[in-house]
Amino acid sequence: MAEVVIVPSAAEAGEIAADAIAAQVSSRADSVLGLATGSTPLTTWKALAALSLDLSRVRGFALDEYVGLPAGHPENYRSVITREVVEPLGLTPSLVRVPGDDGPAQGAGERYEDAIVAAGGVDLQILGIGRTGHIGFNEPGSSLASLTRVKTLTQQTRIDNARFFPSLEDVPTHCITQGLGTILRARHLVLLAFGSAKAAAVAAALEGAVSAGTPGSVVQLHPRVTVILDEDAAADLEHADYYRYAWDNRFDWERWS
Ligand code: F6R
Repeated sequence: MAEVVIVPSAAEAGEIAADAIAAQVSSRADSVLGLATGSTPLTTWKALAALSLDLSRVRGFALDEYVGLPAGHPENYRSVITREVVEPLGLTPSLVRVPGDDGPAQGAGERYEDAIVAAGGVDLQILGIGRTGHIGFNEPGSSLASLTRVKTLTQQTRIDNARFFPSLEDVPTHCITQGLGTILRARHLVLLAFGSAKAAAVAAALEGAVSAGTPGSVVQLHPRVTVILDEDAAADLEHADYYRYAWDNRFDWERWS
């Protein structure tokens, strides 16, 4: 069972996620972080920046990248990660990888998997979830064992991400994304979701059947998952009160040992 934490706001969620990253990095300065893009992790990066940690030795692997946007395009995920993560947090640019950043799309998946393995694997993976239930850009129907590869984006995801582009036609149709199997290899998953638009996907992922139809449901197969939600994203969870109770009454080792 994932640890599910329901908090009043995205800002508080970001503080909890930032604390998890800080604990990871204090245990090893060259920890490997899995980096999500999009709106969800922004409060995490903000809270982490406020901690003023030395993150210069941290290594990073982005979850995904669009295919077909020119280098330097402001919305390719290399640019987004540089702008929103590397620069504000003081990461070292050469230690942060994005799928497909080392050559042609063909073979990029295998090369990315090799690079993650060579780095010793991802210690802590930050995840958002799409309205389609995707994590990374693994849309419904993705193999639960999939590795990094080129995928097609659903029309729903293109519509959701059109807010970053001049028009829907400008949103790429393809991406390179870590697979569900890649994500499951990370040692700690931290999944965040905010707002009512995510409520159905969150409930399906956490409480529905594990299924390729709901790619986010693979988190149920992982031994160490922390899910941090605001009230709106938690609204469809059948066991929301239980999760709140579990968080408010965390096991106190001092008291019971
Ligand atoms: C981004 C990614 C996606 C997003 C998801 C939610 O790298 O892999 O899974 O996390 O689409 O996007 P936002 O946070 O913009 O709602």
